[in-house]
Amino acid sequence: MAGLGVNIDHVATVRQARQTVEPDPVWAAAEAQLAGADCITFHLRKDRRHICDRDADLLKKTVTCKLNMEMSLDPEIVDIALALAPTQATLVPENRREITTEGGLDVLAHADRVGEVTEALRGAGVSVSAFIDPVPEQILAARRAGCEAIEIHTGTYANACLGTDGGNPDPALIASTLAEIHIGLQAGLDAELIVHAGHGLTYTNIEPVAQMEGFCEFNIGHSIIARAVFTGLRRAVAEMKRLVR
Ligand code: PXP
Repeated sequence: MAGLGVNIDHVATVRQARQTVEPDPVWAAAEAQLAGADCITFHLRKDRRHICDRDADLLKKTVTCKLNMEMSLDPEIVDIALALAPTQATLVPENRREITTEGGLDVLAHADRVGEVTEALRGAGVSVSAFIDPVPEQILAARRAGCEAIEIHTGTYANACLGTDGGNPDPALIASTLAEIHIGLQAGLDAELIVHAGHGLTYTNIEPVAQMEGFCEFNIGHSIIARAVFTGLRRAVAEMKRLVR
């Protein structure tokens, strides 16, 4: 049965909009755990646009389920991750101008650096996952670099579900992007990797992905936090947990 990783970055985004102390993402992590979250995910970005160092420290001290830190290959962030030692680190690409992570990490292009960072993290007792597009060559490169897990980028499928330019979603595009996710899942399992999925997953598009057998965990942020504005976080997390199961 797949688990649910709740990404709490957006709670910090609201706090940072006023550069104040509330809402606190550390409180959000506690609420999400009370509702049955299997993992708390956060992204400490180089520009600290949402989660900051204080949050990372307190999350490490207070989260009692799996703690997953999304991180770039930047030396400063790698040093912080080594000192913090979350349960898992997910290596992601990072670009200052993006609104959110765009596309998977190009492990093939950065194989040496990914290998170096992975070795250091694993030496510190951190399990390493790489956020990648569902492309078999990238998946094999992650395996060669020493990753124990991958997170398949589901954003292309999520965008297909939304449709483009106000048009209706194209069922053929949805089907082909789902097929790509399935190919990525299978390639990961064949390479004996733990396979997670995430990005753009919502209450309405999760079902066909959750039905694929073999995923270990789904990492979901935006949709859960958006719903929590109206229902409260506990209810929003519990409902998503029901769907991923
Ligand atoms: N997985 C990764 C690697 C991400 O970077 C993000 C966004 O921070 C997510 C999952 C969650 O995506 P969303 O907020 O669209 O659910």
